[in-house]
Amino acid sequence: MIVVGMLSGTSADGLDVAVCEIEVGPTTTLAVRRHEAVPWPDGLQERLLAVLPPARTTVGEIAALDHAIGRVAADAATGHDADLVAWLGQTVFHGISGGRATGGLQLGQPAWIAEATGLPVVSDLRSTDIAAGGHGAPLASTLDALWLAGDAAQRSSTRQGGPDTRIALNLGGIANVTVVAPIDPSTPREGNPRTTRALASSPHVTAFDTGPANCWLDVVAQRATGTAYDVDGALAASGVVDDGLLRHLLAEPYYAAPPPKTTGRERFTAPALDAAVAHAAPGIADADLAATLVALTARTVADACRAHGAVEVVGSGGGMTNPTLRAALAAELDPVPLVPADDRGLPAGAKEAVLTALLGALTWHGVPGVLPGATGSTTPRVLGRISPGHRPLRLPEPVAAVHRLEIR
Ligand SMILES: Nc1ncnc2c1ncn2[C@@H]1O[C@H](COP(=O)(O)OP(=O)(O)O)[C@@H](O)[C@H]1O
Ligand SMILES: [Mg+2]
Repeated sequence: MIVVGMLSGTSADGLDVAVCEIEVGPTTTLAVRRHEAVPWPDGLQERLLAVLPPARTTVGEIAALDHAIGRVAADAATGHDADLVAWLGQTVFHGISGGRATGGLQLGQPAWIAEATGLPVVSDLRSTDIAAGGHGAPLASTLDALWLAGDAAQRSSTRQGGPDTRIALNLGGIANVTVVAPIDPSTPREGNPRTTRALASSPHVTAFDTGPANCWLDVVAQRATGTAYDVDGALAASGVVDDGLLRHLLAEPYYAAPPPKTTGRERFTAPALDAAVAHAAPGIADADLAATLVALTARTVADACRAHGAVEVVGSGGGMTNPTLRAALAAELDPVPLVPADDRGLPAGAKEAVLTALLGALTWHGVPGVLPGATGSTTPRVLGRISPGHRPLRLPEPVAAVHRLEIR
C-alpha cells in the first residue's frame, strides 16, 4: 500500500512528508517514493510558537490552531495517489510527572485530511501508549529496532564476532536515541516468545530522549540573527564554549536519570535557558552561547551513546544538516562513528515522516506500534485512531507478527 506519513516535530518548523510504499508482513518492506518538507504558511509558525509552554493561551486559540494545522496537513496529503494517511500532528505539550506521562496534545484535526483526500487517516498515535502505561514516545524506536536489528544481524553474519549494538539518533528540537542490540539467534531470548500479533519483541531495545538538540539553539539564533535557526551552524562556529556555563547546564538532573525517560520543550524553555545564563555566564556573547549549546548537545548525546556501548551511531533529523553540531558530536563520539541515516538507506531529513508512515501501516494491519519496554509500557497496543475517508472502512486481515523491516 502507499502510505503518506506526516508530522511536524518539536522544532515546529513545518511539515515533514514521506510517501512510502509499504507491504506489512513478517518481513515488512518499505520504499520511500518521495519526501518533502512543507513550510508553514505565513504567520502560522509564530502563532504556534506563541502557545508553547510556558506561554499562556486560550482554548479558542488551541481550537483554531488545531483546524489551521489540519488544513495545511490536508493540502500536504493531497495528490499522492495513496491508500492511507498517517499523521502524528504537531506536539504542543508532552506532560511528564514523576517519570510517567500525564498526557500530551498533538494538534492538526485529521478530519480535514480525510475530507480533502477521501482516504482513511490514522492519527493520535501517542495516546494509546500513554493509556497503556508508556510515555507515548519516542515512537522512533519501532522503526529503528526493526531497521537496525535486521541490518546488524545481516552484517554480523558475514564476519566473525558477536552482533553489535547500534544506536539510532534523531536530532530534532529534542534529541532521542534508540539503542538496538540485534537479535542474536545463538543466545536464548529472555521472556516469552510472542505468538500473538506482535512486533518482533527484543528485550534489547531501549529508547529515550537525551535532552535538547536544536530547541535552545534555535532560540539563540532567532534572537541573534533573526533566522529560525543557526543556518549551517555559522553562529556557533564563530563562538567559544563557556566551560562554566556548560558545567552549570550539565548539572540538569534529567541527563543522569535512567531510561525510560522522555522530555520536551516544557523543560528546555527559553526562560530556563535565560536563568542558567544569568546564573553562570551573564552577558555572554550570542556566538559563545550558541557554541556552548552545541557542546551541551554533543556531550549529552555522546554520554548517552557511550553508556550503551554502541559501535555505530546512525544520525537523522535537522541537526544532522548543521555542520557545527555534527562535527562537535562526531568529536565527542570518537572513535564511535556518526553515520548519516542516508548511508543506511533512509533519508536523514525524512526519517520521522517515514516512521509515521510505518506506524500507520502497522495500525492498519492490526500490529502494535511499540516494542515492549521501548516507551515504558509493557503491553504493546495497536496505536492511534482511524478517521474513515469517503468510503466505509474495510480493514485488511490482521498480520500476525512483524520480525524485520527491509528498506528498499
Ligand atoms: N542548514 C541547517 N543549519 C543548521 N540547522 C539546521 C539546518 N537545517 C535544519 N536545521 C535544524 O534542524 C531543525 C529542524 O529539524 P527537525 O528534524 O525538523 O526537528 P523536529 O523534528 O523537532 O521538527 C531546525 O530547527 C534547525 O535547528
Ligand atoms: Mg521539523
